[in-house]
Amino acid sequence: MKVTVVGAGAVGASCAEYIAMKNFASEVVLVDIKEGFAEGKAMDLMQTASLNGFDTKITGVTRDYSKTAGSKVAVITSGIPRKPGMTREELIGINAGIVKEVSQSLVKHSPEVVIIVVSNPMDTMTYLVHKVSGLPKERIIGMGGALDSARFRYRLAEALRCPVSDVDGMVIAAHSDTGMLPLISKASYKGVPVTEFLEEKEQNHVVEETKVGGATLTKLLGTSAWYAPGAAVSVLVQSILCDQKKLVPCSLYLEGEYGQKDICLGVPAIIGSKGVERILNIPLIESEKERFSASAKAVRDVNGNLKF
Ligand code: LAC
Repeated sequence: MKVTVVGAGAVGASCAEYIAMKNFASEVVLVDIKEGFAEGKAMDLMQTASLNGFDTKITGVTRDYSKTAGSKVAVITSGIPRKPGMTREELIGINAGIVKEVSQSLVKHSPEVVIIVVSNPMDTMTYLVHKVSGLPKERIIGMGGALDSARFRYRLAEALRCPVSDVDGMVIAAHSDTGMLPLISKASYKGVPVTEFLEEKEQNHVVEETKVGGATLTKLLGTSAWYAPGAAVSVLVQSILCDQKKLVPCSLYLEGEYGQKDICLGVPAIIGSKGVERILNIPLIESEKERFSASAKAVRDVNGNLKF
């Protein structure tokens, strides 16, 4: 099955690379606005096929959305990334126009597509795609929670001094430095609550480092991260294409779930061939409920800047 990745920058190329390396898609089409750029990235990636042992065909096109026709999944990474010291929310002005145009072009050529939104501010861009694409809500997914949960597990493993595969945990609410909600109360070390092993101070450290995970990398790299965002996208794309029905927190359109309406925010969901198959209503403790509501309020304020 065919996957389109719009934006051949570092994040888009990383998405294409991980999707191809996992060998579950027949074709990845990379699209960019810069003449020849996607073609070049695609050719470079294709020249790794014999070395890395994958059969996924990667092609690149400049602006030509007709080449994306019939995509089962499309990933939107286009727009500008943040620079050190910037918040994701500051990108809204430029990125909203780009995401609107891109989502409409994608749907025109692939009416059955499931769209995964990566561009920032991610929750607001996912909401924008809802308003302008005409797609049903189960076919629009913001990828933030998948990435933030991976960063959470990295920090948990670091604090517990154990392999990442021994820890589990989810991050819900907004994909923002202040609105993210790492669910430390539900994180586990081989099924045992991590709160049994970590002092409150250590728990707080894990939570705070997770929340600024993207900002920390932006400071180190001078631009936003790409490996973990690309890998997070590839997990979502695989769960859709292979109908894995994985439980992944992602930014979804809410109609009353978690007490919120007319907003896209990170919640745990089952992701399968139809896109979002089910939103899971997990019990939150009082402090988590309060933080979820505060996060929703902040995203709503950013959404208020959108013009449709
Ligand atoms: C990050 C960007 C993708 O968190 O939002 O790295």
